[in-house]
Amino acid sequence: MKTVFLKLFALTLAALLFVASGNTSHAQSSDEPAAVDRSVTGGAQTLEDILRRQRGENVPLDAGTGGVENGSLTGPLATQGGFSDSELWRRARQGQAFSSSSQDPNAAILVQDEGAKWLETRQSTIPTYTLYALLAILALLTLFLLIRGRIRIMSGWSSIKIERFSFIERFGHWLLATSFIVLAITGLSLLFGREYLIPAIDWVHAKMSPNAIEPNYGKEVWAWFAGVGKWVHDNVAWAFMLSLVMIFIMWFFRNIPTWTDVKWIAQFGGMLRQHGHPHARKFNGGQKILFWLVIILGGSLSASGLALLQPYEYTMFASTFEKLNAAGDAVGYPLALNTSLTPIQEMQYAQQWHTIIAVTMIVIIIAHIYIGSVGMQGAFSAMGSGKVDLNWAREHHDMWVAKLEKKGKIPRPAGASNPSTRSMPLRAPKKPTVPAE
Ligand code: HEM
Repeated sequence: MKTVFLKLFALTLAALLFVASGNTSHAQSSDEPAAVDRSVTGGAQTLEDILRRQRGENVPLDAGTGGVENGSLTGPLATQGGFSDSELWRRARQGQAFSSSSQDPNAAILVQDEGAKWLETRQSTIPTYTLYALLAILALLTLFLLIRGRIRIMSGWSSIKIERFSFIERFGHWLLATSFIVLAITGLSLLFGREYLIPAIDWVHAKMSPNAIEPNYGKEVWAWFAGVGKWVHDNVAWAFMLSLVMIFIMWFFRNIPTWTDVKWIAQFGGMLRQHGHPHARKFNGGQKILFWLVIILGGSLSASGLALLQPYEYTMFASTFEKLNAAGDAVGYPLALNTSLTPIQEMQYAQQWHTIIAVTMIVIIIAHIYIGSVGMQGAFSAMGSGKVDLNWAREHHDMWVAKLEKKGKIPRPAGASNPSTRSMPLRAPKKPTVPAE
């Protein structure tokens, strides 16, 4: 009995000493946590580690390897293996507890902590901001239409049409446009489906057949649509990628930025004034920005999409983070991004990036569709019939028209004998001298 009391007293004293020594180290507030002797636990965490965590202090980084290094046991086995239970679950939660001989890179990950954060972002943050972004661009364009009105051909329609885009160019554009729109619709419905579309389907169903009792109607319709939508999304993506390559090859040279474009952008393309547009070649500064955004964002969208189509095959985010860290260090702004990502984290980043880039592109493209249709008189036919009105071309792409004129490529109206279009009765705007392209 006496020895039991003595043991208890010794234990209490030891615990008190641990607390006292812990407090001292806290008071010293040293950056480097003092080492802990873990020989008693075979390397697993000690009471000291637990008390330090409870006090919110730093615990040495090697705490609780439990004699397990790189997934293999290095120390002697205790009754619970190398770990205590809490230690085991802490390491399991951090996705590093186990090893597996399975080929599946995720087989050894029992709990993936980052998954909870990813799910929250996927279910709530991204859909919410997507909705804001879509509403914002629609509101902005409506406001622009109300304030500025439709951008009209100032000098009116001429009697002459000139070729702007060849058949193959229009084919590339419409393949890109239709595939993008299909991808956008199916992609957005997959993003919003579970949270918004199922209740919406149920609501419509309840309105249309009030007496029907089908609690799973919305879910069933949605499950069918999501299945078809995913198949369509995965396959139409190839048409998008093909058309992206097509327009890149066809329009690359014409979209190399020039000083003229800087001036065009500085004047906002003359869009905010009622008269006159800055000089422009075949593509103006705004169109060049759109072109490069479509190429860069579309390329990134395709890369992240391929990573989603072939799960666990790529490690593009870890290598990108490495480069970003190096760039940050070089300019004295360390980013310290995590470069040892698990395959699941790679997939989670790919999904988030894919969605963010897609939504950014959708917002940009809504603005493009507006300006290419209702927003600007005479623009649509460039991609419709491939021909545009000469007056429209003179107003928006004067340097391009000047070059065509020089080459004698502007058709003459019926009955006109003078080959120079400048003297034709076109009601053309009074133009200042056009700089040579
Ligand atoms: C119904 C949808 C669309 C319409 C009505 C439309 C209309 C147009 C028009 C009229 C042009 C020629 C502008 C000019 O002659 O200067 C054009 C060019 C272009 N479009 Fe579209 N487009 C649509 C969808 C898309 C989509 C979805 C994309 C890309 C994802 C896209 C990318 C481009 C690019 C890169 C150009 C060349 C640069 C420019 O002219 O702005 N278009 N589009």
